[in-house]
Amino acid sequence: MSATATAIGLLGDTPARDYSRKLELFNAFAGRELRAAIASLRLKPGTRVLDAGCGTGEALNWLDDDVSPEGQVVGIDLASAHVAAARRRARPSVPVLLGNLLAAPFPAESFDLIWCVNTINHLRDPLLGVRALASLLRPGGRIALGQSSLLPDMCFSWDARLERLTNEAVRQYYRDRYAVSERDLAAVRSIVGVLRRAGLREIIPRTFVIERVAPLAPEDEAYLGEAIFKDTWGERLRPYMADEDYSSLAQLCDVRHPQFALRRPDFHFLQTFSIAVGRVGP
Ligand SMILES: C[S@@+](CC[C@H](N)C(=O)[O-])C[C@H]1O[C@@H](n2cnc3c(N)ncnc32)[C@H](O)[C@@H]1O
Repeated sequence: MSATATAIGLLGDTPARDYSRKLELFNAFAGRELRAAIASLRLKPGTRVLDAGCGTGEALNWLDDDVSPEGQVVGIDLASAHVAAARRRARPSVPVLLGNLLAAPFPAESFDLIWCVNTINHLRDPLLGVRALASLLRPGGRIALGQSSLLPDMCFSWDARLERLTNEAVRQYYRDRYAVSERDLAAVRSIVGVLRRAGLREIIPRTFVIERVAPLAPEDEAYLGEAIFKDTWGERLRPYMADEDYSSLAQLCDVRHPQFALRRPDFHFLQTFSIAVGRVGP
């Protein structure tokens, strides 16, 4: 049976799936902007927070910094490898549960805030997910749905054509790999809509820009070089591009090549990270 046939999620998530390395690279790379997004929530000490789909757990301690010692942060994730990494990383006072957020084992009104980043778009039915999470909030509690853009907004500032072809190839690869249409991937851009449809109020979106120029910090080079150039682009895009374009891309992504994008003085990378915060009725 194919991975997608046995998967719980739209994007292939199962309890056995492990992409912890990619999550760790992303959180090290975007940590500054993710922490700014958490700061924008103005959490008060004493707040009870659930990180739903906590992945490798970086945000658990960031959230705990704002709410401890009186507050409580809890994480939950479907994948055992991610939970294991999160348990290693999180402070002892922060429990991390292995489980499905659609059936999280908490009584109603357990939390004041639910932080849910880059996860709702992995569900087959994001609305069901938000409703399940909202049922765990006290009246007046908030959900913060976070979502980074599916593709960078700008990576090759000097070659818009190659960037467009690369992005199109990535989209086609994902459509084939997960047997989804472009419409199925709409959750990435509809976090406001899904909160509205779930009946949340006072919805406020806010977007942070992850912007990097050369010379890059080691964590930036690690994420872009490994998670994007090698794993997201790399060989798997070859069938989706003309030979000449693929070879130009391969040169830009090759650390040994003089044109290696991450060491070019004109490298200018932009990617957005949005959060939409909504409140459940009193
Ligand atoms: C792209 S990752 C984001 C992880 C983390 N929030 C972050 O920002 O690094 C999506 C996470 O959601 C988890 N996940 C997917 N479906 C889930 C579900 N139904 N219940 C709980 N976790 C789920 C995956 O295992 C994965 O760790």
